[in-house]
Amino acid sequence: MLSQCRVMPDTLRPRPVPGLGCNAIGQEEEELVLDVLRRKEPFRYYGLNPDSPPPMAAILEKEMCAYIGTDYALAVSSGTAALEIAYAAIGLGPGDEVIVPAWSWVSCFTAIVRVGARPVLCEIDDTLNFDPAEIARLVTPRTKAVSVIHYQGVAAEMDLIQKEAHRRGLFVVEDCAQSIGTTYRGRQIGTWSDVAIYSFQYNKVATCGEGGMVVTRDQRIYERAVRYHDLGNYRPFHEAVVPSREKPFAGGQFRLSEISSAVALAQVRKVDAIKAHCRSVQARVLAKIEGLAGLNLRRIPDSDGDFGFEIYLMFGNLDHVAPFHAKLDALNVNCGARTGTYPQYNRDYVKTGLLHHPAVSPFKDFKEWPDEGYRAEDFPRTEDLTKRYVALPIGWLYTAEDADYIGDSIVAVHAEVCR
Ligand SMILES: Cc1ncc(COP(=O)(O)O)c(C=O)c1O
Repeated sequence: MLSQCRVMPDTLRPRPVPGLGCNAIGQEEEELVLDVLRRKEPFRYYGLNPDSPPPMAAILEKEMCAYIGTDYALAVSSGTAALEIAYAAIGLGPGDEVIVPAWSWVSCFTAIVRVGARPVLCEIDDTLNFDPAEIARLVTPRTKAVSVIHYQGVAAEMDLIQKEAHRRGLFVVEDCAQSIGTTYRGRQIGTWSDVAIYSFQYNKVATCGEGGMVVTRDQRIYERAVRYHDLGNYRPFHEAVVPSREKPFAGGQFRLSEISSAVALAQVRKVDAIKAHCRSVQARVLAKIEGLAGLNLRRIPDSDGDFGFEIYLMFGNLDHVAPFHAKLDALNVNCGARTGTYPQYNRDYVKTGLLHHPAVSPFKDFKEWPDEGYRAEDFPRTEDLTKRYVALPIGWLYTAEDADYIGDSIVAVHAEVCR
């Protein structure tokens, strides 16, 4: 393998273990989980002692509000659930449209469809996030919201997006599932919108295996989110946070257990340490590769706020991507020419336009399917940009030596491939 690359580091270094919060699980998580188990109170709303309800989900919500700088937080069972809840809470339904990047995770699309509304796919720009100019291109009288994904620890251009969307009377939804702890212009993401969501799934910065959070400053959105996540209920705990003013309606069941909340709480307390670590490893790699010809980096609107857990090498020459990836991988550098995200128009649920029952599909009135706006050829920029990169993850267990080795390897492979 080494002989594939003529100029290279002297010795092949073992691959560093990737992963963020999952690798930071330790005594803090253990102690909080044991606390739940010893009290025998795994359910958030009541336990053995009627005078003191179980505390973990409540503390998690309180600390999330303080950390992000918002008013209301609701712990839920996943980021996907959080998205569906957020859409239900802003009153999204049949006939409504939401502008959302074509380059996004499965549930960024499916959560909109599941409340009966229509996702309208937009292009990304060289930040790999929502292109703010797409709002003016795609808005219709049916548009009710824009949904912004902060992809892999880098904030979208929220000041432009927020201004343009609010000027047109649209809700702004921020999907911070991948990017808790990322800031933009000195403020946490999740505070630039009407409602925002987070994920605590295994791959995320902070994890409890499965879990999520809805945050908002709006009391009505908060109450509706609570009701949607808990069978339509609005229990005394929430009544004490915001007195009820909404009519009850049929909800789902997306509650987070006390055990998951305990793990998530310990993890949220570690986000800043994980970010500081990732940023220092990233800075070390970037110092080594500065100025390499033909190699650009993903544009980052606010580099001070970048979480730093992924470096995107963007290639001017498409022919360089595959060999660069193969040679870097052969040097035991964790990297991918594709991440877990695929363009929505390549997914089966978009290609068919179907839901579990055809009558509830928001695409049922289209004469031909997939129609304009849902085919690869409608997204030339997204298609192009997402084929131009090699992404390098940075993890909690990466060391300064790993950073130097990664930097040296990139320089060596660059000399081979980009001559
Ligand atoms: C951008 C984005 N939104 C939402 C989700 C859904 O989160 P979960 O896996 O917790 O359901 C994910 C998960 O990867 C995501 O990346």
